[in-house]
Amino acid sequence: MSNISLYYKNVTADVVGAEHGISPKQFDELAEQTKPLIEQLNDQRKAGQTMYRELPYNEDYPAQVKAVADSLKGDCENFVVLGIGGSALGNIAVQTALNPYMYNMDENQRNGCPRLFVFDNVDPVQIASFVDWVGDKLDKTIFNVISKSGRTAETASVYLVIKKLLEDKLGDKASQRIIATTDAKEGTLRKIADESGYRTLVVPDGVGGRWSVLSPVGLLSAAVCGIDIDGLLEGGRQMDKRVTTTDFYNNPAAINAAVNWNFYNAGKPISVMMPYCYALKDLSDWYRQLWAESLGKTKDLSGNDVFVGPTPVKALGTTDQHSQVQLYREGPNDKLFTFLQVKEFARDVVIGPEPACAPELGYLAGSKMSKLLNAEKVATEYALLKDQRPCMTVLFDKVNAQTIGQFIYLFEVTTSITGLLFDINVYDQPAVELGKEATFALMDRPGFEEMAEKITPVAKLDDKYIV
Ligand code: PA5
Repeated sequence: MSNISLYYKNVTADVVGAEHGISPKQFDELAEQTKPLIEQLNDQRKAGQTMYRELPYNEDYPAQVKAVADSLKGDCENFVVLGIGGSALGNIAVQTALNPYMYNMDENQRNGCPRLFVFDNVDPVQIASFVDWVGDKLDKTIFNVISKSGRTAETASVYLVIKKLLEDKLGDKASQRIIATTDAKEGTLRKIADESGYRTLVVPDGVGGRWSVLSPVGLLSAAVCGIDIDGLLEGGRQMDKRVTTTDFYNNPAAINAAVNWNFYNAGKPISVMMPYCYALKDLSDWYRQLWAESLGKTKDLSGNDVFVGPTPVKALGTTDQHSQVQLYREGPNDKLFTFLQVKEFARDVVIGPEPACAPELGYLAGSKMSKLLNAEKVATEYALLKDQRPCMTVLFDKVNAQTIGQFIYLFEVTTSITGLLFDINVYDQPAVELGKEATFALMDRPGFEEMAEKITPVAKLDDKYIV
């Protein structure tokens, strides 16, 4: 069995010094403080308040997802997800992690599965280009519109573009090309899906967007693209055992949460996630949303103003060594680094011989590329540690469905525990909701006239300040 593990020695005072690291005594204090919160989270779970925790155990969702995926075989060359935020980032992350880099381009690497596109924006140039391409392929394309609320302007607008396109070209058959993933009973998309006779899957009750990747939200595109969804869910269950224990030093989510919380309070409010593996790059995008939307909050649970929230930053090794590391080493010591490192890559490449005229490249010749990539990770870590920058590493034995499931579950539970340490609600996103409503107002949606008036001073450009 492949596992992931959390290596945290390089946040200790032994490695980065007393000013920037955590001493054994401080670790014991963090353990004391976090242990009752793990118990509290376990109790919340028993009370049904953290439904995302149960997703890996649900047998109905994967069965429904597989039935839909099977029904598409032979009839679907392109699978297109329309969603945003939690209704898109997990799909992208799982696809990048578990399918080959050239998946969309190379039929052989797709192994009979459809191309995958995820539209999580309303950029007209992007959508127009896609519409040009897909126009004569609609009878071989399936659109999975995902929206828990069903009212999100971005998803709704792209859906309406596609709906018209399908109806113009396919007439009565248009509804067969759309699968809606939405609330079981309520919301605009549910209403449309029921009216139009779309096939549907549910966004489970009590599971918010960014916590929903292991539900039909993330599982359908994965299954359709040949990803082992049972492995993903198994990975979630494997991690569940490890993050439920109240034994702090054996609970990777508790340590991850406590370390992050400690550094936030110790003048390091920025949390950089830096995979040294291209396949893991979009997991840092997924993490960035989970972390930012869950932990960025004005109020604590008693209603006091707290204005907390670590700032998540994504970087990619080695690419960002040549763009960010100068700042990371010599700029303010206000960051915690979390590397993602892979022990055994699925494939390797041997670097070719050095040219006769350039013997100075001989040190690379014949080496495995994975060796170079991991050497660069250690080199960056070494350089950061020399400047007392604390670092953790999530070590992947391999990148496969199980370890990706473990990672997702680890960071979800880490987020829950970090929220308890901050004493905030990690499951809501009131600030995002306000932006959604302001968009309605700016687009003249009836009922939002009062808000439209309030927005006018922002919407109207003041000539005095244009240069
Ligand atoms: O995590 C969240 O709740 C958000 O990011 C939502 O997923 C996002 O705003 C999309 O919402 P919906 O699925 O309702 O369209």
